[in-house]
Amino acid sequence: MLTGPGRRIDVTLSGAKGAEGGDGLLRSAQDDNADIASMSTSGEPRALLPVYAQFPVRPVRGHGSWLVDEEGDEWLDAYGGHAVAATGHSHPDVVRAIVSQAEQLLFYSTAVAHPLRAELAERLASLCPEPLKRVFFCNSGAEANENALHLARKRTGRSEVVSVAGGWHGRTAATLACTDGTRYEEAASRSGIPLSRRVPADDVAALEAAVDGSVAAIIVEPVQGLSGARDLSADFLRAARRICDAHETALIFDEVQCGVGRCGAFSAAEAVGVVPDILTFAKGLASGLPIGAVIATPAVTAGIGIGDLGSTFGGGPVPCAAALATLDVIDREGLIENAVRVGARLARGARALGVRQVSGRGLLLGLHLDRPAALVQQALFDRRIITGTASDPAVLRLLPPLSFSPREADLLLAGLEEALA
Ligand SMILES: Cc1ncc(COP(=O)(O)O)c(C=O)c1O
Repeated sequence: MLTGPGRRIDVTLSGAKGAEGGDGLLRSAQDDNADIASMSTSGEPRALLPVYAQFPVRPVRGHGSWLVDEEGDEWLDAYGGHAVAATGHSHPDVVRAIVSQAEQLLFYSTAVAHPLRAELAERLASLCPEPLKRVFFCNSGAEANENALHLARKRTGRSEVVSVAGGWHGRTAATLACTDGTRYEEAASRSGIPLSRRVPADDVAALEAAVDGSVAAIIVEPVQGLSGARDLSADFLRAARRICDAHETALIFDEVQCGVGRCGAFSAAEAVGVVPDILTFAKGLASGLPIGAVIATPAVTAGIGIGDLGSTFGGGPVPCAAALATLDVIDREGLIENAVRVGARLARGARALGVRQVSGRGLLLGLHLDRPAALVQQALFDRRIITGTASDPAVLRLLPPLSFSPREADLLLAGLEEALA
């Protein structure tokens, strides 16, 4: 059915036999990067800290939505390397841009200007809603959020932060302090960082009560990733905007997972129609090279000068080249529209299979099941289809490349039909 160097995936659109596959035991880790979870870190050298649960598959190549393992077998990737493979795996244009830039100049720090860094900043500013126009580059999602919090605290002269239940913002001390989960809060507390004030998702009254003149920022994922592709209500996000305006508090949208075209517009802010003061991107922005970006309004960045923020590798020429190529591919191949179309097809198909609720937007979807999602994830894995779980054990999370095709969506649905049978 599918061409490739190795065995074809064994799910058919008519729902035929399942493949032999992993030997079971995928479990939900309810963790950030390990929200899939696997049997173990077995096979990893002892020198590596065993901090990640891992899928028992070893991909050696990738193309589009497909991974090829050591045996040459193909896997359909509806997890996208944790929402990173925005343009698909190893998109030739992105790879070419990386190679070409690496051959010219692999790296020089922000101690010198570089045209690609400037071009990428201009492009991002033009893609985000007004007045988000000032850009700072770093290397990861947590670092972007850390700097966003830093900007908000510096601008307001306040320290308190309000966060939303179910939110996940990273593993630096400041981002752990506003990430939902006892182990994260404990880690932040060990660093002496004050914890955020947490409000229940979509609870406008609680948000109103939590924000006062001591709050520097509300930080929120407009579509929460780890908690199960949970799209927060427009009312709640609009209220956050209004409350921030009333208290001169900064509104931070963490779009590390839900941004860069995944949720129906380039930014989730545009998709939901609420403009924050600071927005963060990472994951899919360079299709797999490490990058983080903070985009803020001139009002927030007023007074920021030399030495206030910094990062040796941030804005390096190779990730910038990869990000520019990613933006070109998203534009040229119509990937935002594709994410909307294919996301709707997946949601429709899942509902037709009896999935009781589908949350999320575009290609960040949570399928709310009537059984543990880890069991369904395992059954799909046995058919060489990779999906994610969420902190809600009943939610199967889909975060495939934005280039996921209708046919690939149908293959996934056929696998799901078998998994649910
Ligand atoms: C919404 C969100 N924010 C922040 C992060 C942290 O990003 P990173 O792992 O690149 O530091 C993640 C990672 O999963 C995320 O999903």
